[in-house]
Amino acid sequence: MSDLLPEKFFIRDAWYVVAWPQELTAERPLARTVLGDDLVLFRTPEGQAVALEDRCAHRLAPLSLGRIESGGIRCMYHGVKFATDGRCADIPAQPGGHPNMCVRHYPLEEKDGFIWVWMGEPGQADASRIMDAPWHSDPHWEPSQGYLHVKAHMGLVADNLLDFGHLPFVHPNTVGAAAQADFSTEVTPLEEGVQTDRWYIDVPASRFHQSVGNFPGHVDAWHCYRWHLPAVMSLDSGSAPTGTGARSKPHGTREGAVEFHHIAALTPQDADHTHYFWIHWRNFALDDPGMTQRVHDNIMSAFAEDQAMVEAQHRAVRRGSHTPMRAILADRALTLVRQQVKKRVA
Ligand code: FES
Ligand SMILES: [Fe+2]
Repeated sequence: MSDLLPEKFFIRDAWYVVAWPQELTAERPLARTVLGDDLVLFRTPEGQAVALEDRCAHRLAPLSLGRIESGGIRCMYHGVKFATDGRCADIPAQPGGHPNMCVRHYPLEEKDGFIWVWMGEPGQADASRIMDAPWHSDPHWEPSQGYLHVKAHMGLVADNLLDFGHLPFVHPNTVGAAAQADFSTEVTPLEEGVQTDRWYIDVPASRFHQSVGNFPGHVDAWHCYRWHLPAVMSLDSGSAPTGTGARSKPHGTREGAVEFHHIAALTPQDADHTHYFWIHWRNFALDDPGMTQRVHDNIMSAFAEDQAMVEAQHRAVRRGSHTPMRAILADRALTLVRQQVKKRVA
């Protein structure tokens, strides 16, 4: 096993996206593994979203095979019931229950279209640290969303998102235009993450932006994102007619622009698999479900290009090498984030 891809690179004291709100129902529990912990996720008939360790505290049967009941879940092996905080609520034929029989409980928070789980000590969970996605409740924006299960270490998936250098090579026909190879990136370290700004001035629009923006000539295009440790990216991107001042600070004029906000949330399943949740909001064709599907398909085909490369890279790193990784100039953002993650884990 390569020491480039260990579990110890995962930060436990953090909020991770664990599911979509509609995945949690009162009908059927959902089993999902996060940071190597097996979780059972469900909603009580009263509507509370719950995450518990997916092991019954009696004889470790999975609670995801259990039955959701008012106020908790019942293991369907011998019928022990656990409340939403993980405490034993009922043992058949044992009045008074069992004071020490409880399963671990994980704080959950539903916010802006995602369900977040806190993987650290439950008492340390502070929901105000979850990032905001104000577009979710703003009628001027319309979302597309998707999920990928990536067979690679989260560190490599994060590297890929933090790296603009691959756009013209991995995505020449989707999100990357060949002209983009010539533009450099401004990288600003933050306390827990990084801000990255990349502008392409007076260039032909990428194929997708041109098809939805119908620009008469060249555009000024941008990819600007904020990376939040451990692994959530909030991206502002778009194209505006060139010379109209889109770049002027702080927000510029975005008249006639096609704009997107995107959140990519990476959640380690274990050292070899990553959950990848994304929502992509657009500022045009708001009432057009066909556009929602088109945006979805466009993004998924770009991500499929990343996924193929990152999974191949993961397999190569796992098999070992005589050659160490070396950073190039384009790696500034991902190098910074890797250093920050190492520091936090230490
Ligand atoms: S294993 Fe769950 S009740 Fe026995
Ligand atoms: Fe990519």
